[in-house]
Amino acid sequence: MKVPFYIPTKLPKADSAISGSDLDWAADENRRACERSIMELTGCPSVLLLSSCTHALEMAVILCDIMPGDEVILPSFTFVSAANAVVLRGGTPVFVDCREDNMNIDAALVEKAITARTKAVIVMHYAGVSCDMDSIMGLAELHDLVVIEDAAHCIDAYHEGRHLGARGHLSTFSFHHTKNIHCGEGGALLVNDSRYLERAYILRDKGTNRQSFLQGQTKKYSWVDVGSSYSLSELSAAYLLPQLRAAKAITEQRRALWEHYQRGLQLFGLECEHGLESDHNAHICYILLQSLEERERTVAAFHQSGIDARFHYVPLHSSPFGKKYKYVSETDRTTSLADRLLRLPIYHDMTLAQVSYVLDALAQIRSV
Ligand SMILES: Cc1ncc(COP(=O)(O)O)c(C=O)c1O
Repeated sequence: MKVPFYIPTKLPKADSAISGSDLDWAADENRRACERSIMELTGCPSVLLLSSCTHALEMAVILCDIMPGDEVILPSFTFVSAANAVVLRGGTPVFVDCREDNMNIDAALVEKAITARTKAVIVMHYAGVSCDMDSIMGLAELHDLVVIEDAAHCIDAYHEGRHLGARGHLSTFSFHHTKNIHCGEGGALLVNDSRYLERAYILRDKGTNRQSFLQGQTKKYSWVDVGSSYSLSELSAAYLLPQLRAAKAITEQRRALWEHYQRGLQLFGLECEHGLESDHNAHICYILLQSLEERERTVAAFHQSGIDARFHYVPLHSSPFGKKYKYVSETDRTTSLADRLLRLPIYHDMTLAQVSYVLDALAQIRSV
């Protein structure tokens, strides 16, 4: 059988002017347009478009110079990539419980988790809802810690007028296909503290000073540090760019669905509490049920109606690989919330009628 063979000769053009004649620049046109778009959206001064949020977290931890013996504080209720990034550098993750009123890390417990070995804190804004960044940044200043915001969920999400991910020294975003905007697999590192910028380019460019070379600051580029192949491909960037430009419209659509859900959920007392004021991006619509058993029953009943509702992270402190690390908690809210949390379907081209269908199914389940 003859396999069709197609070599694209021309990528979709971003409408920016390209300066310089170096072919490498032209080949990065969509990637650089995405970076500018993220800068405009977030107000952050430096953006590196990467192959995933996992890689952005790995880069962020390398930039913090985490060494064996160093501790990094992070929530137990988060995705495993943050913990892996620490462990891969020989560092020790210290897990912290979440707040009572939302799924984010409890800043009072972060304070209790700080030791002489603590070097960094990784916070994660669950569902595009802000952590208590005033307290976290205050603690960081007091104890000389680097703050990494895992803003994987947060494109076009704000708190008090500032985009999430704009306050920590470094922050990371995901454009995985489960996110509000995506290119299959993709991510970004935002460098808010310029001290980290030069090395960030080197890590991204396989440990070379290619960026300086492209800017005409050196005649050739060579191996100068550790690094890997962390850039997003130009093809993926071309797919991502129009979505970044439509981010506001996408959020608006999702917020309408989210608010429709909340109006219905109020009837069951299941509407979402966010604790802090939050101009979120409706990345996730979750409910908290009474128990794990009730959640399992609800998931099974939803399936009968053709509705795919899912739980979320398995707490890292109780996972097989995470059990050996310290967990700072008073009442272990993480386990209780993780057991009871259920995500309802939400995606940008869902209709209000489909949301009503889910709500009707929920009403029926709860009436039995
Ligand atoms: C909070 C959080 N951080 C990081 C990641 C990893 O993102 P990626 O799949 O882009 O590596 C995820 C994935 O869903 C996530 O939920």
